[in-house]
Amino acid sequence: MSKNIPIAVVGSGYVGLVAAVCFAEIGHDVICVDNDERKVAALQGGDTLIHENYLPELLDRYRNSRVKFTTDLAHATREAQAIFIAVGTPQSETGDADLSYVEAVACEIARSIDSYKVIVEKSTVPVYTNEWIRRAIERNGVARNLFDVVSNPEFLREGTAVADFLHPDRIVVGADSERAAKVLGDIYAPLTTGEYYTQADLIPGVCSTDAPPALLNTSTKSAEIIKHASNAFLALKISFINAVSNLCEATDANVEQVARGIGLDSRIGPKFLRPGVGYGGSCFPKDVAAFRSVADQLGIDFNLLSEVEKINVQQKKRFLSKVRSALWTLRGKRLAVLGLAFKGETDDIRESPAIELVKMFIGEGCSISAYDPAAMKRTEEIMPASRHLRYTENAYSAAEDADALLILTDWAEFATLDLPKLQRVLRYPIVIDGRNLYDPTVMAESGFTYLSIGRPAAYPMRELASASANAHA
Ligand code: UDX
Ligand code: UDX
Repeated sequence: MSKNIPIAVVGSGYVGLVAAVCFAEIGHDVICVDNDERKVAALQGGDTLIHENYLPELLDRYRNSRVKFTTDLAHATREAQAIFIAVGTPQSETGDADLSYVEAVACEIARSIDSYKVIVEKSTVPVYTNEWIRRAIERNGVARNLFDVVSNPEFLREGTAVADFLHPDRIVVGADSERAAKVLGDIYAPLTTGEYYTQADLIPGVCSTDAPPALLNTSTKSAEIIKHASNAFLALKISFINAVSNLCEATDANVEQVARGIGLDSRIGPKFLRPGVGYGGSCFPKDVAAFRSVADQLGIDFNLLSEVEKINVQQKKRFLSKVRSALWTLRGKRLAVLGLAFKGETDDIRESPAIELVKMFIGEGCSISAYDPAAMKRTEEIMPASRHLRYTENAYSAAEDADALLILTDWAEFATLDLPKLQRVLRYPIVIDGRNLYDPTVMAESGFTYLSIGRPAAYPMRELASASANAHA
């Protein structure tokens, strides 16, 4: 039987909250700390605050029993053996990560250490942060034998974060002391030994008793670099396929076929080769910039990352040009927008390409009616409804009387729209799909002009038939 390790998680955001309930799910007692009193009160009362699959179920199971919420970091520190720091590390003006929240939390933890603790970096931080945390704690008078600082990066995708946590590709533990590595090993033992996967009501996923996840022990610095390098590499893959999609558009090739063709090479792999309107979210843009900044500071030329960012910016501009090419002029046009979140299955709008595009279209003089299944409330807080921007209650009311429909987020429900109904409500049957959710042939057969990313444009079959009849006449 695995041991119950008392854990504190500092920061109850997308990462901290998921980590907290998942640690409880594998048998540990968790105190979840946040300095936002309203957030803590809401969580204590049963509000999940964010849209994340399986989070409501797990919170229901463990709220106020195995997972307790508090603003009292000192108490949580005294109770816990391992303290995970999962507070924000926003991007500063120069591109590097702003670590002031991490530092503040480390100093506060230091003031309450009275027995051996393992302090764990969960937030994405640049290499050397570990050493800074250690120095900050020592500076606050804590003896070196009373703590260790380790790096345990998260690889959670929003929307599937709970399943990603419980069924990970790998668990990375960067520790420079055996004692600390052992504590982390014990915490993850229910996963690495396969014990969790024998549980009757487990959260389903890819791991099993026969195929439990591996735990990779590294130095702290390697673990910090693994996190940045993983996200930068994934962003690079996306920018690469986006650049290839532009090449496909210029040659009338089909990027889906190309992505499949290259992805079947096991050295490349099929994932993260979906072209679109560019990557967004709270991690990729920030982490690519931070990794570039780390390289700069170390005097290392990593211009590849600047190119990744450049392609990502261009991808949004190209989408705007694509819409212009379908509608001729943009001023005064009514556009229906499906999707505001940075990707499907989340309400998160941080660095969302959809939001940037909405702003760009409004800047061009368009009026927008927008719909998103989960992200409208958050969007309204930063972009209130106005003469140019209306929020609607479903996809069809967004499409009503619009000159074109734009798909900007890959929500599953946008891939199964009632096409005849959509055609009836749109003023012109034009769909410009930034996420390649439809088969161009099906769209043409359903009477749409359909433009997507890196695939030949499709036109209504009727139009093509009459064009060819005219040519033969
Ligand atoms: C954060 C980091 O931004 C990311 O780099 C990292 O990989 C994981 O942690 P996320 O969980 O998405 O990501 O951030 P957010 O949803 O903003 O949550 C951070 C939480 O920390 C907030 O609830 C905030 O109130 C809390 N916080 C912040 C503290 O409790 N104390 C602080 O000093 C600062
Ligand atoms: C990411 C990482 O995947 C995760 O491991 C990490 O630790 C946190 O950051 P997340 O930001 O939740 O997760 O979303 P992800 O699914 O990686 O997508 C990021 C962005 O890339 C989204 O805007 C998404 O739409 C875009 N994307 C993803 C593509 O454009 N094409 C793809 O093939 C995959």
